[in-house]
Amino acid sequence: MGGAHAIGLLLCSLVLLIDPAISHPLCIDSRAPSTLSTPLKFCSYNGTACCNSTEDSQIQKQFLSMNISTSACSSILKPVLCARCDPFAAELFVVDSVPRPVPILCNSTLPSANSSQSLIQVTKDFCSNLWDTCANVSISNSPFAPSLQGQAGIPVNSTVSELTQFWQSKADFCNAFGGVSSDESVCFDGEPVKLNDTGTPIPPHGLCLEKIGNGSYLNMVAHPDGSNRAFFSSQEGKVWLATIPEEGSGEAMGLDESSPFVDLTDAVHFDTAFGMMGMAFHPNFAQNGRFFASFNCDKEKWPGCTGRCSCNSDVNCDPSKIGTDNGAQPCQYQTVIAEYTANASGSQPSLATSAKPSEVRRIFTMGLPFTGGHGGQILFGPEDGYLYLMMGDGGGKGDPYNFSQNKNSLLGKIMRLDVDNVLSASENTKLNLWGNYSIPKDNPVSEDQELRPEIWATGLRNPWRCSFDSENPAYFICADVGQDLYEEVDVITKGGNYGWNIYEGPYPYALQNSTSKNTSTQLKDLTFPIMGYNHSEVNKKEGSASVTGGYIYRSATDPCMYGRYVYGDLYAGAIWAGSEDPENSGNFSTSKIPFSCGRDSPIACTSIPGSSLPSLGYIFSFGEDNRKDLIVLASSGVYRVVRPSRCNYTCSKENATSAETQGPSASPNDACWISNPPKSTVFLVSSLVLLLLLSLIQV
Ligand SMILES: *[C@@H]1O[C@H](CO)[C@@H](O)[C@H](O)[C@H]1NC(C)=O
Ligand SMILES: *[C@@H]1O[C@H](CO)[C@@H](O)[C@H](O)[C@H]1NC(C)=O
Ligand SMILES: *[C@@H]1O[C@H](CO)[C@@H](O)[C@H](O)[C@H]1NC(C)=O
Ligand SMILES: *[C@@H]1O[C@H](CO)[C@@H](O)[C@H](O)[C@H]1NC(C)=O
Ligand SMILES: *[C@@H]1O[C@H](CO)[C@@H](O)[C@H](O)[C@H]1NC(C)=O
Ligand SMILES: *[C@@H]1O[C@H](CO)[C@@H](O)[C@H](O)[C@H]1NC(C)=O
Ligand SMILES: *[C@@H]1O[C@H](CO)[C@@H](O)[C@H](O)[C@H]1NC(C)=O
Ligand SMILES: *[C@@H]1O[C@H](CO)[C@@H](O)[C@H](O)[C@H]1NC(C)=O
Ligand SMILES: *[C@@H]1O[C@H](CO)[C@@H](O)[C@H](O)[C@H]1NC(C)=O
Ligand SMILES: *[C@@H]1O[C@H](CO)[C@@H](O)[C@H](O)[C@H]1NC(C)=O
Ligand SMILES: *[C@@H]1O[C@H](CO)[C@@H](O)[C@H](O)[C@H]1NC(C)=O
Ligand SMILES: *[C@@H]1O[C@H](CO)[C@@H](O)[C@H](O)[C@H]1NC(C)=O
Repeated sequence: MGGAHAIGLLLCSLVLLIDPAISHPLCIDSRAPSTLSTPLKFCSYNGTACCNSTEDSQIQKQFLSMNISTSACSSILKPVLCARCDPFAAELFVVDSVPRPVPILCNSTLPSANSSQSLIQVTKDFCSNLWDTCANVSISNSPFAPSLQGQAGIPVNSTVSELTQFWQSKADFCNAFGGVSSDESVCFDGEPVKLNDTGTPIPPHGLCLEKIGNGSYLNMVAHPDGSNRAFFSSQEGKVWLATIPEEGSGEAMGLDESSPFVDLTDAVHFDTAFGMMGMAFHPNFAQNGRFFASFNCDKEKWPGCTGRCSCNSDVNCDPSKIGTDNGAQPCQYQTVIAEYTANASGSQPSLATSAKPSEVRRIFTMGLPFTGGHGGQILFGPEDGYLYLMMGDGGGKGDPYNFSQNKNSLLGKIMRLDVDNVLSASENTKLNLWGNYSIPKDNPVSEDQELRPEIWATGLRNPWRCSFDSENPAYFICADVGQDLYEEVDVITKGGNYGWNIYEGPYPYALQNSTSKNTSTQLKDLTFPIMGYNHSEVNKKEGSASVTGGYIYRSATDPCMYGRYVYGDLYAGAIWAGSEDPENSGNFSTSKIPFSCGRDSPIACTSIPGSSLPSLGYIFSFGEDNRKDLIVLASSGVYRVVRPSRCNYTCSKENATSAETQGPSASPNDACWISNPPKSTVFLVSSLVLLLLLSLIQV
């Protein structure tokens, strides 16, 4: 058993090394790079970059003020300063969340103690080169002075200095500035970051599933303690704590429908488009027992349903003029985020198997204008610990009040809230907040004061399942349900505008009938999807498609899926995998992936009549357990992605990694439960999952 454990450990670490997830284009302030209309004059970046012309000329000024006395040193330092315009600037400059004044300079000598690092090939010794060229050259306002790095040291001013004044030797200097970035991939070697084109990636032959549950759930969240347990919730408002079986054990998941972890059905308004839409467990849940539910309520049925109406004079919306599709009053239905505790007994929250449905604190309440399109997923950012709330445009075909583009409306937005620092009631009122939370200092409002302070991203229609990549949390990916033509997947970055309702995916939408032809100012800052599909691809009927976002697959179980973003269509029961090519470029190509049900599935799959293919029904959501195994939550039950060979799909990488693990009882990563936590300090969530059925389609 000990041997098997060791092999398991070895294999799970091996797979992580084979294909480390690396960087993707992102600027120092965590915004996405923007497209340049003309190449930068000084830094000469073209295409996409993290600088605009203003910043380019600031860099030029800085460069001139350095008055570098030799041309050799001058020409090596210019690209160093310009690296902040690189589309990969965040990777180059930000180490452990702290931006540095100069990028990480490629260094040939890597510490050999850590075997994972010795795998990295750094071909150019740029740091050493820079030292050899510039060590004795005088530089004014040197960015290499130690005090600028936040270390105690010689104060810097416009005084002229040489590197040798601050640093005793090359080794000393390169220890401070050299290396590879935190994810062991990108460093600056004097040239803009280039990625290798690997050619069109070969899509996997298929996705092999096994059925491990009969129930129909909207959300799944792995237990924050890293164990083989996960929470599942139903649209009606019950949450269960289940155990996830070992692959190949032949067991279904352990979930007793008759004894939920918590039952919130008294508060939750359950109807086609309404119910419990999301849940999130605090990153320190195992210690503090804090958890959060996102659900809809009905003002006429539950006294706690008391939010302000999102249709109000701030956003040019008169509730008395709104007609809802089912005769309900506008804002009769609301979206609520409520906090609960699993610490009531005072015992260790990670041991809790149930919790009281008594609300500890109301985080957020907002009345909804119509009856559909209100998202509702919540999840904690794995790096910042803030709560992200995904909100749709509120329904109504085409977003008739243009809420999604309105900086004053929280509809059609992704919000980012601090639930650890709650303000006093008077401060809440002063800031006109929608509940009990505070605003993270670096929310986009810090740079655009017209935005409501809660907003992280705008221009969404109905974000239906977002996830942070567990290997590279800067990849925050959301699927956004379309209107008539197109279902999209976006990489969400700070302050990004994803286009709805000006665009539906790549297609002009509100623009079509707009009388104003001068739309260039409106369009220049929109971010277009990285993946998606036309409705015609899954269904000939207009509007009858609805994307369900998934995860970047990070399990060792199916090595041919590793690193691919898996997502589906709610109605079509179709699944796609998106692959990045070149790797880490942000360019994705996508293909529909066949799937089937593996032999020895713990629960027999139901087949589509006249076929051997499994019938999943609606794909509500996806989940990721603590082993990073991917779970499909469908109307027909709970399915897990298993080794491709169990479905007779060939995957040469599987053969390579499973040579020593025979038989269906030896999953390649049986030993990975706790031994392989994500890099971030926060151990949990990311996940989650859902649906809205017909509500996703607009009236
Ligand atoms: C950017 O510059 C490179 C090299 O100078 C050139 O090959 C490329 O075509 C340019 N791209 C654009 C979009 O101008
Ligand atoms: C360049 O970017 C800065 C900071 O993001 C902004 O303040 C400035 O207005 C931009 N300048 C131009 C010309 O777009
Ligand atoms: C730049 O350096 C030269 C000598 O190296 C000096 O004569 C000149 O005054 C300096 N210029 C500025 C603006 O500091
Ligand atoms: C810098 O100057 C010192 C003293 O002149 C010399 O010993 C050293 O080799 C020089 N360093 C470099 C990197 O040129
Ligand atoms: C830099 O020098 C100027 C004038 O030489 C002085 O006023 C200023 O206080 C100095 N700044 C620092 C941080 O030492
Ligand atoms: C960089 O290289 C120097 C020698 O050139 C070495 O002493 C140092 O440890 C290296 N630093 C890092 C962070 O790799
Ligand atoms: C890119 O390809 C070259 C040549 O094939 C290889 O030496 C280098 O390590 C690759 N770089 C990355 C970042 O994969
Ligand atoms: C799931 O449903 C099937 C068919 O109704 C039944 O045979 C099986 O026992 C159920 N399994 C579990 C674990 O509930
Ligand atoms: C958990 O409960 C215990 C006893 O009831 C209490 O002392 C403690 O402060 C609670 N912890 C949190 C984080 O609420
Ligand atoms: C929404 O935007 C469209 C297109 O810009 C415009 O025609 C329409 O009047 C706007 N609707 C409202 C309620 O402001
Ligand atoms: C544009 O106008 C046409 C014809 O009046 C209409 O069918 C269509 O729905 C309109 N599109 C939008 C986005 O309002
Ligand atoms: C896989 O192949 C084996 C041997 O050819 C066959 O017995 C089995 O039914 C196949 N399984 C599936 C799921 O197609």
